[in-house]
Amino acid sequence: MEGLHEGDKVIDDSLQGSATLLDKVETEGSKKLYLESYGCQMNFADSEVVASILANEGYSTTKNLEEADVVLLNTCSIRDNAEQRVRNRLTHFKRNKEDNPNLVVGVLGCMAERLKKQLLEEEKLVDLVAGPDAYRDLPSLIDEVDDGRKAVNVLLSREETYADIKPIRLGQNGVTAFISIMRGCDNMCSFCVVPFTRGRERSRNPESIVEEATELFNQGFREVTLLGQNVDSYRWNMSSKGRIKDEAKPTVNFAQLLEMVAKVSPELRIRFSTSHPKDMTDDVLHTMAAYHNICKYIHLPVQSGNTEVLERMNRTYTREWYLNRIDAIHRIIPDCAISTDVIAGFCGETEEQHQETISLMKEVKYDFAYMFKYSERPRTLAERKFEDDIPEEVKTRRLTEIIDLQMSHSLEHNQKNVGKTFEVLIEGTSKRSDEHLCGRNSQNTMIIFPKGNLKAGEYAHVKVTDCTSATLLGEVVSKEVIPA
Ligand code: 5AD
Ligand code: SF4
Repeated sequence: MEGLHEGDKVIDDSLQGSATLLDKVETEGSKKLYLESYGCQMNFADSEVVASILANEGYSTTKNLEEADVVLLNTCSIRDNAEQRVRNRLTHFKRNKEDNPNLVVGVLGCMAERLKKQLLEEEKLVDLVAGPDAYRDLPSLIDEVDDGRKAVNVLLSREETYADIKPIRLGQNGVTAFISIMRGCDNMCSFCVVPFTRGRERSRNPESIVEEATELFNQGFREVTLLGQNVDSYRWNMSSKGRIKDEAKPTVNFAQLLEMVAKVSPELRIRFSTSHPKDMTDDVLHTMAAYHNICKYIHLPVQSGNTEVLERMNRTYTREWYLNRIDAIHRIIPDCAISTDVIAGFCGETEEQHQETISLMKEVKYDFAYMFKYSERPRTLAERKFEDDIPEEVKTRRLTEIIDLQMSHSLEHNQKNVGKTFEVLIEGTSKRSDEHLCGRNSQNTMIIFPKGNLKAGEYAHVKVTDCTSATLLGEVVSKEVIPA
C-alpha cells in the first residue's frame, strides 16, 4: 500500500511492507492470543484493534506460542515475498497444531481475501480467515472454529473504520503511536493490490481521531502518526466530488484534521503517512508550516521518474507535476525532509526510463527512500494489461543502482547535519547500548546520544557530532522547552 511503512526506514527490497517485523506482546486475560503482524504500519494499527476486540472476550496477548489458544497472523500481500514469508510461518504453526489440536490458527489482513480458499481448503493451513473489515466478527468466527467448522469473513465494507474501538497499544515504546484516520484506497495504481485487499476508501470521524490523540497524550504518549493509504484525500462529510453530505454538520479535509490534532497539545508531535502527489495540497503544507509540532517530514512516493511509466502505473501525475510538488514543499517548508517509494523494473521500463528515475532522484535528493523490485500481483491492472517483462537480473541491477544512489544521498544529508542542533523526542534506549538514548528529530532522522539523566517521552536539544547514512550521533545541549 502506498508508502505505509514499517517503523524504521528501509533501503532495500527485502524488508519494507513485506513481513519482517513481528509484534509479539503480552497483556492480561484468561485465554491467550498470540498475534503476529506483517507488513505496513496500518497492519500494526489494525492488530491493536484486533487485540482490543478480543480483550473484550477475555483474551490476553502472549509472546509464548506454546501457551496460545489462538494464533493470528495479520498478513501483507503487497509483494510476493511478503506472502511467501507468511506461508512459511503457517507451515511452522501446522506443527504446533499437531501438538495441540485445539489451537485455532487464523489469517487476518490482506492475504485473507486472496487466499482464503487455498489456505482453508487446499492446504488446510488455517481454521479461520478474516479480512481487514471483519475484525468485529472475530469472536464469533473463533466460536465457529471451536464448534468444529472452518470460519471465514472477508467481506469488505464501505463504512467500517473501527472509530469506536480503543486500540490496545502493542509492543510500543509508550511514546509514539499510530492512529488510523481512514481505510482502503480508491486510486487504482496498476501495480497495487491494496484496493482489492482493503476495499474502498473511507474516512474516520474526526472527533474520534482527536479523542484518541488526546487520550494518548494523557497517557504519556508524545507523538502520533496519522495513517491512511492516501491521507490527502481524507474527507469527512464530503463526497469525493466535494459535495457536502449533511448540511447540518461541518466538513473536514486533511489540512483541517491536521490542525485539529496539532491543537491537542504543543507537546504532542504529529506525523502522517502517506501523501499522494496528485492530491497533496498547498493547504496541507501551510498547516505544517504553521504548527511547530507537525513534523517537518513528508513521504511522497514517486514510484518512477518517467512520465510514460507513471502513466502505465496509473499514477495520474507527470514527472513535472511531481517536481512542482517538491518545489512547493521547499518553498513553504524550507526545512522539510522528503522521502519516497521507488519501483525498479516495472512492466516495459526501458533503460532510458530507468535513467529518468535516477535523474529525478538526483534532482530531488531524498532524505530517505523505500525501494523495491516490481512484483506482479494477481488481479491488478498491470497483471491484466501488461507483461512483467523485465528480467529478474535487470530488475536487481536497476534496484541496486537506485539503492546505491540513495545511500549516498542519505549520507550526504546526514553529513550536512553534523554541527547542527535538533529538538529530539526521546523514544527509548538505543538498541546498541544501554548508556545511550535514541529519538528522532522533526525530520524523522534517528539520533543517538549519551543518556545523562534524560528518559523516554522527554524532549531534548541534541547537537550532532557524527553520522552514518542511517543515523546521527550527538550530545545533549539542553532539555527542550516546547514553544506554545
Ligand atoms: N511491486 C513492487 N512494489 C510495490 N509497491 C506496491 N505494490 C508493489 C508491487 N506490486 C510499493 C510501492 C508503494 C509501496 C508501499 O510499495 O512503492 O508505494
Ligand atoms: Fe497506494 Fe496506489 Fe496502492 Fe492506493 S493503489 S495503496 S495509492 S500504491
